[in-house]
Amino acid sequence: MDAEFWRRKWESGSIGFHRADPNPMLVRHFAALGLAPGARVFLPLCGKTRDVGWLLARDCAVAGAELSALAVAELFEELGLAPRVTREGPLERWEAERLVVHVGDIFDLGRAALGAVDATWDRAALVALPEPTRRRYAAHLVAATAAAPQLLASYEYDPDARTGPPFPVPEAEIRALYAGAYRVVSLERRLADDAIGAAGVTESVWLMTPRGAPVTSR
Ligand SMILES: C[S@@+](CC[C@H](N)C(=O)[O-])C[C@H]1O[C@@H](n2cnc3c(N)ncnc32)[C@H](O)[C@@H]1O
Repeated sequence: MDAEFWRRKWESGSIGFHRADPNPMLVRHFAALGLAPGARVFLPLCGKTRDVGWLLARDCAVAGAELSALAVAELFEELGLAPRVTREGPLERWEAERLVVHVGDIFDLGRAALGAVDATWDRAALVALPEPTRRRYAAHLVAATAAAPQLLASYEYDPDARTGPPFPVPEAEIRALYAGAYRVVSLERRLADDAIGAAGVTESVWLMTPRGAPVTSR
């Protein structure tokens, strides 16, 4: 799954992962992040997800990272926003109002360019990556966001039954990747009903709060 794989997907319109609506798991669990009005939320590997518009409509600022300039152009167009585009080292920075998208390889996006974020929403980012890239990605995400609280959506299925992406990332792997930085709590686990839609696929949502942050009772 190199950059060409994803660019070809966008160019050919093979984007079965893209939903026409805001992700129901984000809608159901966003409040669990306990964010203040105006909070800044990071969407790694954001594509042109409708979740961006949903968060902007909730007064959040949004930062994204995405390889495909075509996806990002469509994102801004669908939001009715005209981006200012500037070079940012190996990346491009597309911004308008409360939205900034860093266009290029997420591994080139450091903490300074990303800026402070209050939370991360990972939908179809971790699960889009093969092993061992997932390990590199998880460590990079923790560093780039200074371990900002995270909502993570994942999939579980028998790896012999189908090929990724999306890849199955079960609880044990999520904990192995993130338990050093976060307390990991399961919020939901159910049969998948989104585009992946295959029998025997479970989707799960995880709340990850940085170790050291006060524990709140819910
Ligand atoms: C499965 S899609 C998910 C998109 C979006 N999160 C959603 O829910 O619709 C994965 C996205 O990650 C992008 N991508 C893959 N590798 C990347 C990388 N190294 N850096 C930035 N974006 C990447 C792809 O272009 C693709 O749009």
